[in-house]
Amino acid sequence: MTLAPVSRPADRYWAVVPAAGSGTRFSPDSPKQLAPLGAGTVLENALAPLVAHPEIAGIVVVLAPSDTRARELLEPLRPKVRTAPGGARRAQSVRNGLAALAGLAADGDWVLVHDAARPCLPRADLDRLMTELSGDPVGGILASPVGDTLKRVTESGNIEHTVERAGLWRALTPQMFRYRLLREALDLALAAGIDVSDDAAAVERTGSKPRIVAGSSANIKVTRPEDLAVANAILGAAHDREIAIGHGYDVHAFTHGDHVTLAGERIVHDRGVLAHSDGDVIIHALCDALLGAAGLGDIGEHFPPSDPRYRGADSRGFLRAVTRQLRDLGFTVGNVDVTLIAEAPRILAHKQAMRANLAADLGVPETRVNIKATSMEGLGAIGRREGFAAHAVAVLTRARVSP
Ligand code: CTP
Ligand code: MG
Repeated sequence: MTLAPVSRPADRYWAVVPAAGSGTRFSPDSPKQLAPLGAGTVLENALAPLVAHPEIAGIVVVLAPSDTRARELLEPLRPKVRTAPGGARRAQSVRNGLAALAGLAADGDWVLVHDAARPCLPRADLDRLMTELSGDPVGGILASPVGDTLKRVTESGNIEHTVERAGLWRALTPQMFRYRLLREALDLALAAGIDVSDDAAAVERTGSKPRIVAGSSANIKVTRPEDLAVANAILGAAHDREIAIGHGYDVHAFTHGDHVTLAGERIVHDRGVLAHSDGDVIIHALCDALLGAAGLGDIGEHFPPSDPRYRGADSRGFLRAVTRQLRDLGFTVGNVDVTLIAEAPRILAHKQAMRANLAADLGVPETRVNIKATSMEGLGAIGRREGFAAHAVAVLTRARVSP
């Protein structure tokens, strides 16, 4: 007899974003959540990872009733994003946001509370919070271990003592709790007149011990004006791309024959190329440049000349295989530039077709591919028409890992 699998309803997620504070430590006259940051505002950056997350069913942004500007900004994000009126303290604002989910969120659904003042939440932290707490009866928070030495200071500005740092964590957001449990915990705290500064503090008062999920210290809260520059730098780094450059060189001797193959074009010539594959010196140099930029060694390691599979091989197959490897590693080809060094054949008439071949194999527009040629002015082996060579450089870019 086989047992039917137990079907458990999938976790459902909602979010509440308190954005009704007046930001007194930031500026006396402009709320920090509307301060410009990156391509939008602090608020829009804080919302972005929640809006983009497919498992978050709906988001309530809690706004000061007078905040028409934020209401306008959020209009395009409907219906996933709706608004609720703020209260005098953060806990009251969160409670109002939870009230706006009544009828939508079931008691056991998850609610992620994320401060509008935290615009640098990495998507990976959001995912980790949701996965690590899955199945937990209560919930928990993102937090990061305290790195600085902590001092207890008197009102006159003297150190009273050093606070033991071990076991101390900075509470971040999102903080994720079961819907009903968080509503009741905040109601209890507010009814008792206790001003909790985060959601976990309200839950802790009920005797529960919320879990800690390690989060990035880049998930900063914009509190003072100088924090905005730090947030800008963190977001800039997240959107930044790393750049890698590579160089390749190849040379082939001529032998008897009637043509050569260059960048995939068959070109009539009074000599052939001595090589295991089709001897496409341009593509070989280019593959080495690409592999070099990606830190992947050289073409000989990937397609050994001793391997009978590559006898007479079309080198464009090598280039396409290298391109696939780069793509799997997240690289995009910025541009490539190759120089053929040969007394003959002349490639001018073939250049356009050669460029089109390389662009097609690399999956980039032709404007990112350049081909040029030079002769050796009769000097050396290439000058004596004993063979030809090619140099190539390639630039690759890749998204830097987020903070
Ligand atoms: N918040 C809120 N309602 C309040 C107070 C705060 O929704 N009555 C929100 C803030 O908008 C912020 C988050 O709670 O997104 C964290 O609060 P905090 O960083 O303290 O922001 P402010 O209270 O606005 O700033 P300050 O304490 O400097 O006045
Ligand atoms: Mg405050």
